[in-house]
Amino acid sequence: KAAGASALGSAASFEAQAQPAASTPPGFPAGFLWGTATASYQVEGAVQEDGRGASIWDTFSHTPGKVRNDDTGDIAVDHYHRYKDDVQLMKALGVRAYRFSIAWPRVFPQGTGAANPKGLDFYDRLIDALLANGIAPWATLYHWDLPQALQDLGGWESRDTARAFADYAGHVAARIGDRVKHLFTHNEMSAFIELGYGQGIHAPGLKLPPRRLNQARHHAVLGHGLAVQAIRAAARPDVKVGPAENINVCVPVIETEEHIRAAERATRELNAGYLTVMLEGRYTEAFLAWTGADAPTFTAEDLAAIASPLDFVGINIYAPHNYVRAAPDAPSGFALAPITAGFPHMQTPWLKVGPEALHWGPRHVARLWDVKDIYITENGCAGTDTPAADGIVYDTDRVMFLRNYLTQLQRATAAGVPVRGYFLWSLLDNFEWADGYASRFGLHHVDYATQKRTPKLSAELYREIIARNALA
Ligand code: NOJ
Repeated sequence: KAAGASALGSAASFEAQAQPAASTPPGFPAGFLWGTATASYQVEGAVQEDGRGASIWDTFSHTPGKVRNDDTGDIAVDHYHRYKDDVQLMKALGVRAYRFSIAWPRVFPQGTGAANPKGLDFYDRLIDALLANGIAPWATLYHWDLPQALQDLGGWESRDTARAFADYAGHVAARIGDRVKHLFTHNEMSAFIELGYGQGIHAPGLKLPPRRLNQARHHAVLGHGLAVQAIRAAARPDVKVGPAENINVCVPVIETEEHIRAAERATRELNAGYLTVMLEGRYTEAFLAWTGADAPTFTAEDLAAIASPLDFVGINIYAPHNYVRAAPDAPSGFALAPITAGFPHMQTPWLKVGPEALHWGPRHVARLWDVKDIYITENGCAGTDTPAADGIVYDTDRVMFLRNYLTQLQRATAAGVPVRGYFLWSLLDNFEWADGYASRFGLHHVDYATQKRTPKLSAELYREIIARNALA
């Protein structure tokens, strides 16, 4: 188990120094888990069906001007009705695991109180279809569709939301834990808090002042910890649980020992409010100094819950966030090198092309916190993919992206970094939050007028990589 409060810098099973890529063997470790991922509001549609309550994303996407083209997830890619066909797409890829999320407002339309009797029926059907096709279901409990009724009471600003999340998590674990052996608590805590409660560009669209924002951050990690405890109490012991967090990825500017150590220290500090407190059970001194008078209110008991032992750590990695260099004279010991204006990016400007993020991200996590089982729970890129005259979707940008990122992931596994699996985002083009349907992340193109799915060139590449368990 990846223990909560493990010693920093403990000896890990791989060398601190980077291995030259040329010395790495060509394959991924035997049994490496290849998967793909989606999330409820982004793919399901059927927002009025079977007693589902409203979520903050229904409210937000129906507020004019919040989402590009005023797109909504009302229909999305109709996965709610087309899941059987979508499972066949997964089977054709050869993936052995599917990461999907459960919509909290389907299960508890008001967030708490009486469970909707039909709330989990769709997931039961989906899980059974996956298992019948040899695909392991990995379920995320919170991928951002907070019941609107809870937002009306303060959302993640309220401590009650953390408690309600744990109750919901326990309820779901008791019901599906017989077939679902891997559960994720939150997806990308830092994203839903920073974008939704800090910058206001995601639901619920708030721009909170520092004190309230810090409290919301604290309630998010507390919700994670309480949910871990509730799942342990409700489910069979073979149900494993962990987060799926988008860590701030720190890449050493140059791969020397001193810059690598600096990037490690930066990883700890720049994730202090999220993964660091979850794995250490304390806020770092620098974090408390930075928040100052605006620090969240918390108790020692909260910290113990937040650091509840995990079975694995999931990390979503798309882009390097910072290039880091050693700064012996700075109190932190590190300095951030700017990401230049000319830095290459994929279709979405935030997605900087830094394949080495997929090597350094998990490597720092393994070394800093002695984590034994890491999963890359998301990685992928958006494009403007359209079918060519011959009907094929030539997403050569995504093929380039995957080949380079997976080369770096393979470099990590070859160096002994304990990455056990990889979930490509996404199975299908889908509702990309504030970008609406304009950014396509799928391995399969979706024609939104007809819901027709077409495998892209990248689907062919991924199928080949999975079949070989190697890049070449
Ligand atoms: C992170 C989120 O978890 C997912 O919902 C989103 O679509 C992808 N990244 C791409 O932005």
